[in-house]
Amino acid sequence: MSDPGAGLGLGKDLVGLEPLGREQILGILDTAEPFKEISERQIKKVPVLRGQTIVNLFFEPSTRTRISFEFAEKRLSADTVNISSSGSSVEKGETLVDTARNLEAMRINMVVVRHGSSGAAGFLADRIPSNVINAGDGQHEHPTQALLDLLTIRDRFGSIEGRRVCIVGDILHSRVARSNIWGLLKCGAEVAVCGPRTLIPAGIGDLGVRVLRRVEEAIEWGDVLYVLRLQLERMKGGYVASLREYNRVFGVSSERLRLASDDLIVLHPGPMNRGVEIDSDVADGERSVILPQVTNGVAVRMAVLYLLAGGQPELAETAKGGVA
Ligand code: CP
Repeated sequence: MSDPGAGLGLGKDLVGLEPLGREQILGILDTAEPFKEISERQIKKVPVLRGQTIVNLFFEPSTRTRISFEFAEKRLSADTVNISSSGSSVEKGETLVDTARNLEAMRINMVVVRHGSSGAAGFLADRIPSNVINAGDGQHEHPTQALLDLLTIRDRFGSIEGRRVCIVGDILHSRVARSNIWGLLKCGAEVAVCGPRTLIPAGIGDLGVRVLRRVEEAIEWGDVLYVLRLQLERMKGGYVASLREYNRVFGVSSERLRLASDDLIVLHPGPMNRGVEIDSDVADGERSVILPQVTNGVAVRMAVLYLLAGGQPELAETAKGGVA
């Protein structure tokens, strides 16, 4: 492999979608396409990252992102180590950078990091020579989540350009919303947000996003309804009166979806609060692409790992052909 991210000019790290251009984002999605098939094989392994050592540093809980990165790394034949704050020397007060530098002393190549502080991934990327991939930092960005969402929307509609996507719920605390807004706008989608006034950041309209006040309006307007989790763990300020009230006013129910166009699809990054932001019959219904999102997550993360390791986008099809 050649220089990190050379083919698309991604550079050493993937910290967010804000600094990327449309061609880079679409290039990552195109690179993910041939990787989808590896997970469908009986022997889900190719030698693309053989010899690379990757550390998954998860300082916040995660199911989908952590396991999806681990599957992506293992299916590309990388050697992986998983570290969480609990049980590591972080519990004794070791800093993020000291932890990473000690791991580097053991000769690693990449770090995938999830952290509760906004900016933690960029801070680390500036201080260590290994590639750093942001797996969600505070309320800043979650770039691989947005990439898998973009891939899922493109799979369904053929393109992202011109699609109307409304993100519903807790926009204020959501790194997923932030990464999706950057990614969707750069790829030519029309973007709206909808939620309680207390959970819509002031000035969001300046990004080129429209604000819809009623969920019914969002459902009538959109091709894609992107439902966000109410982040109860980040809410200390009484942002919503009660969960029951939230569900009554903003909950996505099959009754409300009667207002939608025939092709509207429903996305959710997980984990879901069933019966709060989304009802079970919607989450499990025919408009839902929530599980295809998770499936696409593995291919997107394979593509990001491959590109940052110096893989050329146009060679992804050939690279995945080998048997480990
Ligand atoms: N979507 C997402 O980030 O889920 P996890 O918190 O389970 O990784």
